[in-house]
Amino acid sequence: MEAIIRPTAEAAADLAARIIARELRANPHLVLGLATGRTMETVYSRLVRIHREEKLDFSLCRTFNLDEYVGLPGSDRHSYRHYMNHHLFLQVNIDLRNTHLPDGMAANLEAECERYERLISKFGGINLQLLGIGRTGHLGFNEPLSALRSRTRVKALSPITLAQNAPLFQEPAQMPRRAITMGVGTILECQRCLLLATGAEKADIVAKAVEGPITSMISATALQLHSRCTVVVDEAAAARLQEADYYRWIFENEPEWEAFR
Ligand code: GLP
Repeated sequence: MEAIIRPTAEAAADLAARIIARELRANPHLVLGLATGRTMETVYSRLVRIHREEKLDFSLCRTFNLDEYVGLPGSDRHSYRHYMNHHLFLQVNIDLRNTHLPDGMAANLEAECERYERLISKFGGINLQLLGIGRTGHLGFNEPLSALRSRTRVKALSPITLAQNAPLFQEPAQMPRRAITMGVGTILECQRCLLLATGAEKADIVAKAVEGPITSMISATALQLHSRCTVVVDEAAAARLQEADYYRWIFENEPEWEAFR
């Protein structure tokens, strides 16, 4: 794992967007794993800008989102399908047929989870997976006790997650209590992980995820098992990292980061 600390939330999101842009330029057929949440909005607005100003081409890429609420159709403005269309898909030259999210309205949710896993495999697996982190340390909706080998499945949302995301709903009581999420095992199979976390309220969970012991209580700690994982944080979210100076030195001095400094 490598941790990159940028001065502000904007600079951290900008770096994440530039990493994605570089991977997409290197491989126009990239299979890109995507995440939702407030943190990602800046990443997507940067990607839209790079598409407009530098002609970043999404026409051949395929996307797979981490998760979707159970019971919300894509037309519902609280659904992650709606979020993705609004923040990214409808603003770049991606073919909507190449964009995938689990179907939270599927009559048979178990079959839908299996279909989603098969579809990811059919396209050769995910090349780059963008990740946020929830207050519980979840990746996607892998709530506490998610098995480190779990696959795409339905998860009940924890009270902390319900409290964190309910304000995003017009009627907080209408927030679904379950979601379909890629499993921790599904996520760990991608070629490269890119986790972005910003803001002081993430400092504690970031330190646990990056430097703490691996535990199914905090699914993000499983990223320590991944051979190519980049964690990008701003100074506020880095506040509790014990080895912050070491991580800063790496970003400023190692040749692989030269293009991003
Ligand atoms: C939701 C998503 C997660 C995301 C988290 C963080 O719970 N399912 O994938 O990481 O939100 O959200 P925010 O960026 O708003 O803190």
